[in-house]
Amino acid sequence: MEAVNIGLLGLGTVGGGTITVLKRNMEEISRRAGREIRVIAAAVRDVDKKRDFDTDGIVLTDRIMDVVNHPDIQVIVELIGGDGEVFDAVMTALDNGKHVVTANKALIASKGNAIFSKASEKGLMVGFESAVAGGIPIIKLIREGLSANQIEWLAGIINGTCNFILSQMTEKQREFGEVLREAQELGYAEADPTFDVQGVDAAHKLTILASIAFGIPLRFESVYMQGIDNVEPVDIAFADELGYRMKHVGISRRTDDGIELRVHPALIPKRSLIANVSGVMNAILIQADAVGQSMFYGPGAGSEPTASAVVADLIDVVRAFTTDPQNRVPHLAFQSDSLIDAPILDIVDIETCYYLRMKAVNRPGVMAAISAIFGETGISIDSILQKGHGREDEPVTIILLTQNTREKNLVRALERVEKLDTVRDKVVWIRVEQLS
Ligand code: HSE
Repeated sequence: MEAVNIGLLGLGTVGGGTITVLKRNMEEISRRAGREIRVIAAAVRDVDKKRDFDTDGIVLTDRIMDVVNHPDIQVIVELIGGDGEVFDAVMTALDNGKHVVTANKALIASKGNAIFSKASEKGLMVGFESAVAGGIPIIKLIREGLSANQIEWLAGIINGTCNFILSQMTEKQREFGEVLREAQELGYAEADPTFDVQGVDAAHKLTILASIAFGIPLRFESVYMQGIDNVEPVDIAFADELGYRMKHVGISRRTDDGIELRVHPALIPKRSLIANVSGVMNAILIQADAVGQSMFYGPGAGSEPTASAVVADLIDVVRAFTTDPQNRVPHLAFQSDSLIDAPILDIVDIETCYYLRMKAVNRPGVMAAISAIFGETGISIDSILQKGHGREDEPVTIILLTQNTREKNLVRALERVEKLDTVRDKVVWIRVEQLS
């Protein structure tokens, strides 16, 4: 049978990995797909750049549309990133009758609804396995492997850069800036590393996971987003003493009032498997009604791990070429006319536990006054401890862990606590996720 011709948009880290994996495993990939998969053209920024992988047989061009409009190409693999010019290229590829595989989480999270709608209209496939958690086949796992279940919630470490930075800060007491530079040198970070450390990258991925888990349209604009740029070493150390690890997590939960969609640093009990995911690795923990709790772990970034997912998508696309488009696995796991636009909860309406760190003067009655405010606001305190033994009227640190409460209650309580004349500065607070 004739080979399937592929056109690549972008030939960076993941593009290089894709070519290398396709060439190295050509024979087995053909045996799996039923056809040979051959990259015949690639759009690159600099045609003359020296590359450390074999581009023999691939026509390089600096004109994206030459690849998108190439009459012999059946599948476009988009590895450029961003959601501007690339969106037009993908929509044109679909208009031209070409299937698309993309590793671009920003594109899928922010423009996926339009892309899938166009693809369905044209009877085409859009694969995006590599957009979430690199080499972990989490899209296939949720969309197909768990399709019998009602998913209750999922929590993921889905940004390797944040996890690498927090792991180094925890294990080696290193400074944030220094570790970020190392993550960039190692090729983990996004082109714009603020996307990693401010939670945007994780929010893109969570948007996609929540859609396929709950059958809702992609709602990137509704994700609550907080990064790790304000995480202080002192809280990592106190958390450790209390039996918790600081992790940057994406959480989505189905509640009676709507869907939680949030990305932020959180304290996770050390005994939890996910708290022990270190370095650049990713993991997604899923609670579902039939299977119970399961966790999927693996490399979330890097050339060949991400290429592994890109090539798996290519194989899926090639296998499904001749199938009836109506009977393919739906892009967002649920039939497109069965998606439910459930409300996304405002962050103040979520319920969880909290870690609070405050500075107060050392004086009889201070703890009692703080506890009284929490009592009056309906917040149950799990534990409260004083760090340091200052002399009377000298400042000491108070750490407080709350039980489950609505975030708006906490905000209300903190407004009152911060007004106490015995409490100094702003209270630092971090969500605590028991994940049980
Ligand atoms: N910058 C991403 C991360 C890599 O750090 O996880 C791929 O999404």
